[in-house]
Amino acid sequence: MKYKVERNTKYDFAGQSYASKYPNLHRYPATMLPQIGIEILKELNIKSGRMLDPYCGSGSSFASGLEVGINEMYGFDINPLAVLISKAKFTKTNVPEARSESQKLRTNIYEFLKDENNFNKLKSPKIKNIDYWFSKEITQNISILKHFIYQIEDENIRRLFSIPFAETVRVCSYTRNGEFKLYRIKPELITDFNPDVFGVFFSRLKKTLDIYQVIYYPKLKKGVKISVEYKKFEPKDDFFDIVLTSPPYGDSKTTVAYGQFSNFANEWLDIDYARKIDSMLMGGKTEKKLYKDGLIYDYLYEIFKKFEKRSYEISSFYRDLEFSINKVAKSVKKGGYIVYIVGNRLVKDVQLPTDQFIAEKFEKQDYKHLITYERLLGNKSMPSKNSPTNKKGVKKSTMITEYIVVCKRKK
Ligand SMILES: C[S@@+](CC[C@H](N)C(=O)[O-])C[C@H]1O[C@@H](n2cnc3c(N)ncnc32)[C@H](O)[C@@H]1O
Repeated sequence: MKYKVERNTKYDFAGQSYASKYPNLHRYPATMLPQIGIEILKELNIKSGRMLDPYCGSGSSFASGLEVGINEMYGFDINPLAVLISKAKFTKTNVPEARSESQKLRTNIYEFLKDENNFNKLKSPKIKNIDYWFSKEITQNISILKHFIYQIEDENIRRLFSIPFAETVRVCSYTRNGEFKLYRIKPELITDFNPDVFGVFFSRLKKTLDIYQVIYYPKLKKGVKISVEYKKFEPKDDFFDIVLTSPPYGDSKTTVAYGQFSNFANEWLDIDYARKIDSMLMGGKTEKKLYKDGLIYDYLYEIFKKFEKRSYEISSFYRDLEFSINKVAKSVKKGGYIVYIVGNRLVKDVQLPTDQFIAEKFEKQDYKHLITYERLLGNKSMPSKNSPTNKKGVKKSTMITEYIVVCKRKK
């Protein structure tokens, strides 16, 4: 290995889950354990300054930053559900008002249901193949919920309510809930599937408000500024002191389908390109060109020899990753740090050294690679097995370790 990798058991956090310390407000795939971020920030002695997460997802890096005392943070993600979760967690919202809004919502729905003529007031939802995924009754009840949530005047409270709304939509659809991708439950289960939309929503709303009040609200002290934007990161010269991020491991189609996982939430919340998100994420668009630059080439060439098309797909991911690294690199102040937490995925029996790729690209941009820690991956909720050779029954672990790559910008 060109860039030093050190096995570090301190970062395993064996037996600890995300939920144990920082319960998420909404499920999200491949979340980072905030404990890792906290530990590495402490190790680098970073207690203040500006932090960037260009792939912020549900915002675990912000939880890490707050814990060590950083109070100015910037996050970006092009999945609207990710931005919704991050913003809901890290925006100061008046909880007592939210609770009374919940009571108002119950009353409004109760009154609304008394008169069937009210149903004409509902906008028809724009969901692709709606009848395949939702029963008529469920669609109607979700539409009622949405109708009233959209009427909440306070933007922050409305956002917090959209979280259990997004969960409810998924739980009440015919999707198999344990999966990230959209698979429909078996036909024989459909006749018995009749969840109580309002019951699900209000119980999740209570849970959301409780977690927010106990875990997140107290951390949002005066002076804390966390901005989360719903776009790709654009460079800002010499602006950040630290970058803490866990980028995707590969394209969404063949690794973690963030877009598919978020599809119903995004569609019901009026994102008209919801179905296209996976192709907009890193590596989502394939160019018929092998990536030839640097140490990853040998590995891609191995794949190319037997699986040309596949090698192009993976090349596109690395091309996008390099492009993004270049933007991030110039945005960090001299003497600042970058911490990337990644996995080295296995494709067609080739283990792709993404950690080395990242170190190499930052070094090319005037950074010094300090260390890469290897940690055991015990807690990430993501598919750990696939069939990399595409031979039926041959399953291998795609990733059992994860890498924490640390580089410093030269002064
Ligand atoms: C591994 S996840 C981040 C998880 C996050 N650390 C958490 O704990 O929730 C990677 C994220 O990158 C986002 N993403 C992928 N391509 C992107 C791009 N080009 N610009 C911004 N975000 C992108 C995905 O939507 C996903 O939320």
